[in-house]
Amino acid sequence: MERLNQIGIDLSSEKNLNRLLENIVTRVRGFTNCDAGTLYRVNEKKQTLSFEIMQTESTGYYAGGTTENKISLPPVPLFVDGEPNHSNVSAHVCVTKEIVNIPDVYEAEGFDFTGPKKYDEKTGYRTESMLVVPMLDHSDKVIGVLQLINALSPEGEHMPFPSRFESMVRSLASQAAVAINNALLIAEIENLFKALVHYTVKAIDARSPHTAGHSSRVAKLSKRIAQDINLQQFGPFADIHFTDDQIEEVWVAGIMHDVGKIGVPEAILEKRNKLDGAKFDRVLERFDHIRDMMLMRAAVDNATHGKPLRDLSDGLKQQLQEWEEDREFILWVNKPGFLAPEKKEHLDAIAAKTFLDIDGNEQPYIEPLEFENFSVVKGNLTDEERKQIKQHVVETSKLLNKLPFTEKLRRVPEYAGSHHEWINGKGYPKGLKGDEIPLVSRIMCVADVWDALTAQDRPYKPPIPPDKSVEILRSAAEHEEFDKDVVELFVSHRLWEKKPGEISEFADDEND
Ligand SMILES: [Fe+2]
Ligand SMILES: [Fe+2]
Repeated sequence: MERLNQIGIDLSSEKNLNRLLENIVTRVRGFTNCDAGTLYRVNEKKQTLSFEIMQTESTGYYAGGTTENKISLPPVPLFVDGEPNHSNVSAHVCVTKEIVNIPDVYEAEGFDFTGPKKYDEKTGYRTESMLVVPMLDHSDKVIGVLQLINALSPEGEHMPFPSRFESMVRSLASQAAVAINNALLIAEIENLFKALVHYTVKAIDARSPHTAGHSSRVAKLSKRIAQDINLQQFGPFADIHFTDDQIEEVWVAGIMHDVGKIGVPEAILEKRNKLDGAKFDRVLERFDHIRDMMLMRAAVDNATHGKPLRDLSDGLKQQLQEWEEDREFILWVNKPGFLAPEKKEHLDAIAAKTFLDIDGNEQPYIEPLEFENFSVVKGNLTDEERKQIKQHVVETSKLLNKLPFTEKLRRVPEYAGSHHEWINGKGYPKGLKGDEIPLVSRIMCVADVWDALTAQDRPYKPPIPPDKSVEILRSAAEHEEFDKDVVELFVSHRLWEKKPGEISEFADDEND
């Protein structure tokens, strides 16, 4: 009884379905001391029993579950022509909820054992005794069938299953059924949570074409890096192992790392030039107006002096030439890039210029806010805009800290909130250094930057090819911005490439 209880307790702690199914067969075989066992699960929709786990200890045959061996046997129908399938022993047990205990299948009557016999013929195995038990859950519903084969005597000889096992195995099978239901329920809730997060974040990302799909790619890449770290037996990551739960935590932190961007105005997220759209059009229109005013005033002047209207003085020609150069310069300076000191002087000179508008009022060529934007030395964002963008990670932390994450996702807010920290302490928001930054955040930092560099969907810049992006990552690692070991692993194992056999959990993930 004690062993029985212990097995029940152990089973209820396994939340991974495949491992759980495997454990059930192994533990029940151990308990009854039998050579082989098969676990079937009921497929309610199709009304069949599907093979989930097959184990034969004496031949070393293990299939289904977490093994590489897939079971190709067709499912067993529970009904044939609308009638319960009593000829197959497992189907019979499933539909009647009765236990079947057979000393020797070759001498048994009433069931069709051509399946096991064919198997014996092919493999030289001898199927003899069989104990077939329904797996009833808390509501007395059959969710599977356990088929145990060849009980062994202390000498290792095949023997019938003692009848005293029947009720014990029945109880064990039911505990296993409850454990399976729990595992399925937890998996369902987790899948719902993940899908909810995935699609919510997708919607946030889609606000800007610059970031569409970014978060799910960062989540996927981060998870891949963590999984690759698990494979390392030598080097800096030899002693680091992420459990399955921790890998999930990496994914969730990855997918949520930029949720704080919901608070950043779209105009900033989408900003391509120093001034965009109408704001820049206003500058160009003003320039046109400046030229028109020059020409108009010259024409009026000519008229009052009796000269032909279109006569241009040398002074005016000079002014128009300058105007042309200034306009060209404004077009150039509006593009993101580097503003060298001599270029800044030209900008200052333009900013100092004024003209008389139609009412005779003195107006600047460019307004203070325009000047501030054009004065950006690197890129296209002003200090204030940069501050607002950086604020997204603070907002991410605030938002995630409010969510009641489960114990195993406890560190998601911390991980997500540190994805812009740098090893040298020059990152943000906290300026953490080296090991103060959690490894998961250091992983996410690399995945994040990689995606920003190589993304196809940023309209303001073409994607940077992988070899060039690798150089950028390495140089940032050299400057102690990113974690050197993570970068080296990522680069040397080419982790941005999808590995064969890797599957996406979300159908639309591939298009991200
Ligand atoms: Fe970010
Ligand atoms: Fe990001």
